[in-house]
Amino acid sequence: MTVKAFAIGLAATAMLGFTSLGAADSAEAPHRMHDHHQHETQHPMEDTRTLVDLPEDLRSHMLANMRDHLLALQQIQDALARDEFEQAAQIAEQRLGMTSLERHGAHEMAPFMPEQMRMTGTAMHRAASQFALTAGDASAVGDVRPALADLARVTAQCVACHEAFRVQ
Ligand code: HEC
Repeated sequence: MTVKAFAIGLAATAMLGFTSLGAADSAEAPHRMHDHHQHETQHPMEDTRTLVDLPEDLRSHMLANMRDHLLALQQIQDALARDEFEQAAQIAEQRLGMTSLERHGAHEMAPFMPEQMRMTGTAMHRAASQFALTAGDASAVGDVRPALADLARVTAQCVACHEAFRVQ
């Protein structure tokens, strides 16, 4: 299932929830009105992301990169679980870190991106390179937790950007 299909599924579920709640409110005692009101003001599935208009070839290139980002995270976690710290570090640097910028065509993409999106992208590349260093040290330090904390700083940038922007 694609991310988009998943999101649509969630949205549909949320709307069904609203509908049945609304029906219950009009049919039942007034004490339920309060719950309904709370639901309405939270708008959990409202899409407030900024649409970034990319030329079609750049957009499909970017989405392909994104899918590789997710694959890279999966491979990093798998390597960490096997104590393959050097491998985790290499995947992070080559596929997500500063080294990956050229390969991702960041140069071409940059002019189309809002400033905040560019900054979040840069923050992700920096965080991945930082993780690569920490992961490289993990066996000497004898503790994987600092690397895991730095990996969470990488995924925090995925989350921040996805929360703010869309391309379709
Ligand atoms: C600088 C912004 C930014 C960063 C950082 C970022 N993404 Fe994305 N990503 C996007 C945008 C924008 C989309 C398209 C969302 C949309 O249009 O609905 C996207 C889409 C995706 C998709 C869906 C691809 C597809 O084929 O539809 C995946 C998977 C993904 N990102 C994974 C990641 C992972 C994992 C990370 C972190 C390691 C990450 N992204 C970091 C901006 C970003």
